[in-house]
Amino acid sequence: MASVSVPIALLPLNNNRHRHSGNLRSYLPVVSPLRRVRAYVSVSTEIGVEEQNNVSKELELFACPICYEPLTRKGPSGLNLNAIYRSGFKCQRCQKTFSSKDVYLDLTVTSGTTAYSESKPIRSELFRNPLVSFLYERGWRQTFKQSGFPGRDEEFQMAQDYFEPVSGGFLLDVSCGSGLFSRKFASSGMYSGVIALDFSENMLRQCYEFIGKDDSLLNKNLALVRADISRLPFSSASVDAVHAGAALHCWPSPSNAVAEISRVLKSGGVFVGTTFLSTRLNSPLSSRSLGTLGQILAPSTNTYSFFAEKEIEDLCKTCGLVNYTSKVDRAFIMFSAQKS
Ligand SMILES: C[S@@+](CC[C@H](N)C(=O)[O-])C[C@H]1O[C@@H](n2cnc3c(N)ncnc32)[C@H](O)[C@@H]1O
Repeated sequence: MASVSVPIALLPLNNNRHRHSGNLRSYLPVVSPLRRVRAYVSVSTEIGVEEQNNVSKELELFACPICYEPLTRKGPSGLNLNAIYRSGFKCQRCQKTFSSKDVYLDLTVTSGTTAYSESKPIRSELFRNPLVSFLYERGWRQTFKQSGFPGRDEEFQMAQDYFEPVSGGFLLDVSCGSGLFSRKFASSGMYSGVIALDFSENMLRQCYEFIGKDDSLLNKNLALVRADISRLPFSSASVDAVHAGAALHCWPSPSNAVAEISRVLKSGGVFVGTTFLSTRLNSPLSSRSLGTLGQILAPSTNTYSFFAEKEIEDLCKTCGLVNYTSKVDRAFIMFSAQKS
């Protein structure tokens, strides 16, 4: 016998489910506030070994982005939006607290700062723009096909094939953007939990909007986390799968990012990424390959950092990843490597 918090089903507050306020509260259960609280009281129930394992794995997952000490959590357990929204997290060593801001859990080092602010390189900052975030899944992403990207459904299937050996585990969709793949991973039923992670607040808001349009996703183990790829807020060796779609060329430091991915992966864990190959992009390097909006909004291809395949393989190897393999079509590359 074990005591667990059982969240009741998530439903929109009214029947107008597609026109919610954009606030998580609109997904709170259709009960009075008091009953809502009661719905989360701990109940004694028998839970299977597998569920107990999931609860303990989840406890070790989130870590302080400053010292990597596992965070303690107060609130309902579970990785779904509602449970995360109602939870407070704390690093007992740094005494720093983290909570959900708006629709996502903010686990950046700077979360909670009042005066300090910093800018990332333009290839990161670009995607924080509300217009870019809005347009990303509504046309921008689709133009990647010009460079050989197969498109969402095929890329998803290709990634799923690479993730087959770690099915049933936790998946991090890093630099998820508007969550076009995170949502598919969560719906697939292949993972015990999916975390959609991005540095852009507006991309995470878009992700939330898309989740709100699909009732089946609301009670899935799918959480939205804001974090910097160079400082992943997860314990070392806590994650089974990391997906990074069209992201490597946008990261401030790809080497720090891949080192972080390697750190959080368990032994045998799988990393799958896609990007544009520098050697195959239209010559001279043209931002046309990145889509029409890319041309308007990114001043030049120098905005991004593109690599040759040898460099990507070398980077994976140097960060402790093995069994490198890839699929290439024109400038598109999907690569995969495993934590040794
Ligand atoms: C081109 S989008 C890719 C979105 C999606 N994964 C896809 O396959 O289309 C690149 C994403 O990288 C994110 N990004 C840029 N810098 C980041 C950083 N330092 N940490 C985490 N994500 C970052 C951007 O916010 C953006 O959402």
